[in-house]
Amino acid sequence: MMLATCLACVCLLLATAIKTSASPIHRDQKIFEFPDATIIEPDLSQTSAIRDTLIANKIIGDVLDDFEPSYYIEIDYPSTHDKVVLGNDIPVDAVSERPVFNFFSMKPSSVETMNSTFTLVLTDPDAKSRDKPKWSEMCHWILTNLTTPTPGPPPGTLHAKPGEIMEYLPPGPPPKTGAHRYVFVLLAGDSSNLKAPKDRKHWGYGKVRHGVRDWAEENDLKVVGANFFFAQNEKQ
Ligand SMILES: *[C@@H]1O[C@H](CO)[C@@H](O)[C@H](O)[C@H]1NC(C)=O
Ligand SMILES: *[C@@H]1O[C@H](CO)[C@@H](O)[C@H](O)[C@H]1NC(C)=O
Repeated sequence: MMLATCLACVCLLLATAIKTSASPIHRDQKIFEFPDATIIEPDLSQTSAIRDTLIANKIIGDVLDDFEPSYYIEIDYPSTHDKVVLGNDIPVDAVSERPVFNFFSMKPSSVETMNSTFTLVLTDPDAKSRDKPKWSEMCHWILTNLTTPTPGPPPGTLHAKPGEIMEYLPPGPPPKTGAHRYVFVLLAGDSSNLKAPKDRKHWGYGKVRHGVRDWAEENDLKVVGANFFFAQNEKQ
């Protein structure tokens, strides 16, 4: 009885917190932005379309458990202005340098991510190829300590220095291995003590198809967004 009452209280509190923080898409609240990041205008009325695209391309399945995307990650490779837009093709030449990015909530912030810090990763589930993923997943990048804006400072203010715990390894799909999916995943949760995986191959887990899902679980991080592109070697 006591327990039931408490649970009811908690639920009420949660409901209140969510309600009071409810507002339209926080489009102006850029959480983190490199100086020359450009803005993409995705159709935000379609957050379930993002999930459908992730399912159709087996990102949800091969890489991630099912989840409801609550953040959109804008990613732009500055040398060519190629943007990552949910499964477009990008030439390998264009992705040799770190991309610029920013990300924002497509929904009112949930209580769990309100005070959270974020981690952005890039993983290749199709190493060495999608048919023979014997090196899968390959860890390409981990950037931690990205934080949400607090009310007050102007949008775009950098609130914390992000920590690159795994240096950016430019995608380099081998010849004749077809198109690889390169998947960016945004994780929410405490990133203050994150350690890099022991190895890029299999994210150090030593088994095929192991990677960001294991690492997120091990570090108690929640998947809140994903975006991806395809790239392939010119020799096919
Ligand atoms: C978020 O942080 C603020 C300020 O530190 C605190 O007052 C608030 O209770 C926190 N909210 C949650 C959901 O943890
Ligand atoms: C992330 O932030 C925490 C606390 O501010 C700091 O101790 C840690 O070194 C940072 N991590 C990286 C990889 O910079």
